[in-house]
Amino acid sequence: MLLPSLPQLPQIFGNIDIYLFDQLLKGRIQPGMKLLDAGCGGGRNIQYLLQAGVEVYGADASEKAIEKVRELAARVAPEAPKDNFVLADLASLPYPAAAFDVVLCSAVLHFAENEAHFRQMLQELWRVLKPCGMLFCRFSTTIGMEGKLPAVSPQKYQMPHGPVWFLADEALLREMVLLLNTELLEPLKTVLVEQERSMTTLVLGKV
Ligand SMILES: C[S@@+](CC[C@H](N)C(=O)[O-])C[C@H]1O[C@@H](n2cnc3c(N)ncnc32)[C@H](O)[C@@H]1O
Repeated sequence: MLLPSLPQLPQIFGNIDIYLFDQLLKGRIQPGMKLLDAGCGGGRNIQYLLQAGVEVYGADASEKAIEKVRELAARVAPEAPKDNFVLADLASLPYPAAAFDVVLCSAVLHFAENEAHFRQMLQELWRVLKPCGMLFCRFSTTIGMEGKLPAVSPQKYQMPHGPVWFLADEALLREMVLLLNTELLEPLKTVLVEQERSMTTLVLGKV
């Protein structure tokens, strides 16, 4: 096997989330699978997947993001239909139930307007996932930061880098797991970005 050289790695994987990369190494995403990147932004997490035989779709509420992700797809996977990338809010996705083998949602759920919106988005991500599929989410939470951030309204916090974010706590995440009647594929993993924020990875398998 011809190994890519170390300087080639960023060209191949782009700026992929390291916890998503972990899922690739665990073999949970395979060629031929249908994958939705929900809140895809410019597509940093799908650059490699677009070229790896995965059928990639993307949805985002920003026109600019959809423009950017379409440009990326046209460059790295010209055969990928442009219509696979659509303008949509995660609270109301334009797909039938059980449409995807994998749903990614990276750095999006803390933009929820409130708890109801957060729940609605998570329920939608779950609705479009096939049985036996994987939902991978990474977002900011209060875990490990309890009492350290000023709350401006219930569950909304002034983040040190400027914005106000919705931060779910561990109890809400565990309640959602029960509500979805499922199980964690991995324990919750939370990284504390010193003095700034806490980022939690939630990986669910649909039974
Ligand atoms: C920080 S970026 C993350 C982009 C990408 N997932 C990544 O990890 O690089 C957040 C993205 O979520 C999108 N977004 C925020 N709220 C959304 C919502 N309710 N529905 C759809 N997209 C949303 C924004 O437009 C933005 O592109």
